[in-house]
Amino acid sequence: MICRITILASILLPTFTFAGHELKGRDIVRGQTLYSEQCASCHGAELQGQPNWQRSNDDGTLPAPPHDETGHTWHHDNQLLFTYTKLGGQGALAERGITNFNSGMPGFEDTISDEEIWDILAYIRSTWPERVQEIQAGRNPPHQ
Ligand code: HEC
Repeated sequence: MICRITILASILLPTFTFAGHELKGRDIVRGQTLYSEQCASCHGAELQGQPNWQRSNDDGTLPAPPHDETGHTWHHDNQLLFTYTKLGGQGALAERGITNFNSGMPGFEDTISDEEIWDILAYIRSTWPERVQEIQAGRNPPHQ
């Protein structure tokens, strides 16, 4: 499946490096509550995403993809997921010099803390089958 964010992200040099352990030992219950409050309106109460999420909207933005295993959230490393949530799609890519990407994903920098973002991402990860969790973990840079 072609994923526009993966293509864009693959040409980006990370400004700093995360190891793969940020999602371990997180408060998954708090993450689930925050997900319902902040994310479910677009990404779906069951993490199912918006209908026809692979087709662009008329304005060129993409609908919200599912965060369950049918989507491509698990194709991305922790750093991208974190930055995307914190700064929003446009902010995350603009920070790396890509300014022609029109994103419908808002930034949550002023709404929730960094720790809360990690809790939400850990909750999302906890819904994936173990095999998918392992593949996603393998996308993170090794410990340095
Ligand atoms: C107003 C609707 C909206 C809300 C609310 C929202 N998102 Fe998104 N999100 C989107 C859209 C649309 C995209 C599609 C990517 C793009 O166009 O940049 C997206 C993409 C993403 C991505 C990157 C793509 C991927 O593969 O998963 C992540 C991570 C993400 N959202 C996390 C979250 C989290 C976590 C929350 C809650 C804190 C949240 N979003 C709330 C609309 C939303």
